Amino acid sequence: MYDFTPRADAPKSEIYRDLNEAAAALVAGEVDSVANMANIAALIWQFLPDLNWAGFYRVVEDELVLGPFIGKPACIRIPFGRGVCGTAAQSGETQLVADVHAFPGHIACDAASASELVVPVIAEGRVIAVIDLDSPTKGRFDAEDQAGIEALAAAIMGSILG
Ligand code: SME
Repeated sequence: MYDFTPRADAPKSEIYRDLNEAAAALVAGEVDSVANMANIAALIWQFLPDLNWAGFYRVVEDELVLGPFIGKPACIRIPFGRGVCGTAAQSGETQLVADVHAFPGHIACDAASASELVVPVIAEGRVIAVIDLDSPTKGRFDAEDQAGIEALAAAIMGSILG
């Protein structure tokens, strides 16, 4: 029904522009947060090469709980401050980790993961979720990926509330 086919050789700026436009179109008018997170995870997976996990952890009371994702089954609950995701949730700041094995407390859900990008989704001044991307390639993510996913988080924030 929705066929988003990014060009394999497109520059990152183009990929993120198209990803963010597609995400805005998919969530427009839909209030169900699970459906929206599921579609956004699928879009990220379609648009970004070289990932082995892409999805959401939601803030539920005082911890992170697994949300919609693509990839291998993952840890369900992550306390604030633990691992890359818990650090992003606690600090409210993006964590761009070139080598997960060098990150103290990294939680290995998939042994294939080598680098990770975790972006907090902030609504009304508080972290409501994180977007987590894992790659089997060390140093897969750069500042352009960070800016692209931060823009995505800001754009879809209102559609994953509740
Ligand atoms: N590696 C994460 C855990 C989540 S999985 O990567 C899906 C972390 O350290 O928080």
